[in-house]
Amino acid sequence: MPHYQRVGDIPPKRHTQFRSPDGDLYAEELMGSEGFSSSSSLLYHRRPPTAIVGAESVNGAAGADLRPNEPLLPRHLRTSDLPESADLVIGRHLLLANDDVRLSVARPTGPSGLYRNATGDEVVYLRTGLARLESSFGALDAGAGDYVVVPTGTTHRWVPTGDDPVQALVIEARGHVGAPARYMSATGQFLEHSPYCERDLHAPTEPLISDDPGEPVDVLVRQRAGLTRYRYAHHPFDVIGWDGCLYPYRLSIHDFEPITGRVHQPPPVHQTFAGPHFVVCSFVPRKLDYHPLAVPSPYNHANVDSDEVLYYCDGDFTSRQGSGIGAGSISLHPAGFTHGPQPGSVERSLGQERTSELAVMIDTFRPLLLADAARDCEDADYPWSWARQA
Ligand SMILES: [Fe+2]
Repeated sequence: MPHYQRVGDIPPKRHTQFRSPDGDLYAEELMGSEGFSSSSSLLYHRRPPTAIVGAESVNGAAGADLRPNEPLLPRHLRTSDLPESADLVIGRHLLLANDDVRLSVARPTGPSGLYRNATGDEVVYLRTGLARLESSFGALDAGAGDYVVVPTGTTHRWVPTGDDPVQALVIEARGHVGAPARYMSATGQFLEHSPYCERDLHAPTEPLISDDPGEPVDVLVRQRAGLTRYRYAHHPFDVIGWDGCLYPYRLSIHDFEPITGRVHQPPPVHQTFAGPHFVVCSFVPRKLDYHPLAVPSPYNHANVDSDEVLYYCDGDFTSRQGSGIGAGSISLHPAGFTHGPQPGSVERSLGQERTSELAVMIDTFRPLLLADAARDCEDADYPWSWARQA
């Protein structure tokens, strides 16, 4: 869905000789998705992007202990109880995963090493704090409420940049993440009924070139089986220009314009991204339903084909009052369990005109497994909260 961008110096014609002021040829790289058949960008490196001098498996990287959600239960994960970690790449606390997507949280205290995900796109949502994505395409500064979409294969690192602690949700797809198809024209432009459009997407605006340290540089690469550490002869941030439709970008959840109605609108109106076998939705502060007899609280619902994950970010969570859920919580309401508002929430919602809730939802179309960190921060009383308060 990203539209054409051009940053730095590029030659007037692709695949033609392009030389530095001292006469050396730049190394052209095409980074393309779906085998030269979908979005791509052309990057111009000072040095060959191919020059590896070493590679090693990183032991234990694939060894997340995942177990089925059995007995089948709704779960409440208090992610703020999880410890701080070194960085936003190796410091992720994996919570929930299946073959399509991995969901983690992180509370990084320092910059990460260089990294890229060869399995799929990553969407990093910052709930708190400031952080900078540095990549071969340039830098992107992000803050609370920003989604940062990092395309498959983008070499990057994360650097916290503010005084407030960073708390982030990380969505690792096995494939590509984009806008819902119904919001796009046949030629790739956002349509008028889309909750956001090109003006809300922010790409790097200038090249980011690191000094060559004169010694090899490590890049951690995630592939389906685990992690490999490549050692490169040169620093990979040596791109003097690029153009194309494939690059990391930022979208603020606060630029997502909510779709509202006289009666309760279903969750697809909140959809922000589509991934392979999952969707990402944004619940933002908005006007509530305005039919004179409207029930603003959600109805009980059985999502027969999906597991529903909600990351509660800020504001009131009226429909969850009394359940123990607060900012930083994650709930998992799996297929097979009918869920709905906590007791008393429907009555409390009557006559309310606005909500301040801010939350990110991920619906997966295949069941999620639980990772160790989910067990470490689970609120064991949550499954019984509807009956406890009834
Ligand atoms: Fe739900």
